[in-house]
Amino acid sequence: MPSHMGLEATTFGQGTRDEHFAFDPAYTPLNHGSYGAFPTAIRNHQRALQDRIEARSDPYIRFTIPELLQRSRIGAATLLGAFIDDVVFVPNATTAVNTVLRNLRFIEGDTILYFCTAYGACEKAIHFEAKMEDNVDTKDDIDGMSSVTQGPGRFGDLFKWAATIDQTPYLCVPEAIKFRTDVCGGEDKIRYYCFNLARDGGHSLAKILGTETMQNSEDTLGQCCFTNVRLPLLFNTERRGGLECAEGPDVVKWTMDRALCEFNTWIPGKYYAGAVWVRLSAQIYLGIKDFE
Ligand SMILES: Cc1ncc(COP(=O)(O)O)c(C=O)c1O
Repeated sequence: MPSHMGLEATTFGQGTRDEHFAFDPAYTPLNHGSYGAFPTAIRNHQRALQDRIEARSDPYIRFTIPELLQRSRIGAATLLGAFIDDVVFVPNATTAVNTVLRNLRFIEGDTILYFCTAYGACEKAIHFEAKMEDNVDTKDDIDGMSSVTQGPGRFGDLFKWAATIDQTPYLCVPEAIKFRTDVCGGEDKIRYYCFNLARDGGHSLAKILGTETMQNSEDTLGQCCFTNVRLPLLFNTERRGGLECAEGPDVVKWTMDRALCEFNTWIPGKYYAGAVWVRLSAQIYLGIKDFE
């Protein structure tokens, strides 16, 4: 049996990191939520694909890539429980949000609702869209965002020919799903480990800092691979002394810089609701010690 087969969930953490990922040993990757990471097996698969394309570019680009791309769409659609026609590949999350936003038809009086903690690039796209469309309002104080898709077939057609770019990341989807199933033990095992690590790691860090993790009244905010932990900083909300609220963004920047320079990690932060919160991502290559 190859060494990467049959990995048990119990070995998630440092063992998984050492065997399957290519992180710098001195770096603690706590920000999976921003850019993700891929196992070395998938990296090797991608590089082999690139070599094959380079060796016979015309037949690959005309015949093989469209076929492999379709396999990837089927794989992603099955994993997500989506219609194949609704699944297309774009280079990053910002392009995806822009693509959906710019293809929606707004009518007078519509309001675009979004999280007040929205990723900056997406918030800008929302405001740009509202500016382009007359009489469309934006509102940022709710906990959700609606989305609409076009009818079957047409959406996928728009992405059939994305000109000449390196599409190998998209073509790796079936291999990546196979890795998640065969090596990691499936989606449930991955989710179980990551959810628990996010919860326990967040609590552990909050205990060290003497603070708390972010939670809602239904106690459901923690059911994901993230945890948000409050930093022990007092801000001058309601004139109780402490740091000025306007300094919040500078404090966030300073904290993130220090995390990188002194602790060799990157932890995105946000000044929100009168406090600085840091977001830590739990993944199969991390353990509780990484959070502490
Ligand atoms: C929450 C979140 N989403 C997405 C991204 C990355 O966006 P993109 O894939 O468009 O580069 C980041 C990057 O920092 C992020 O923090």
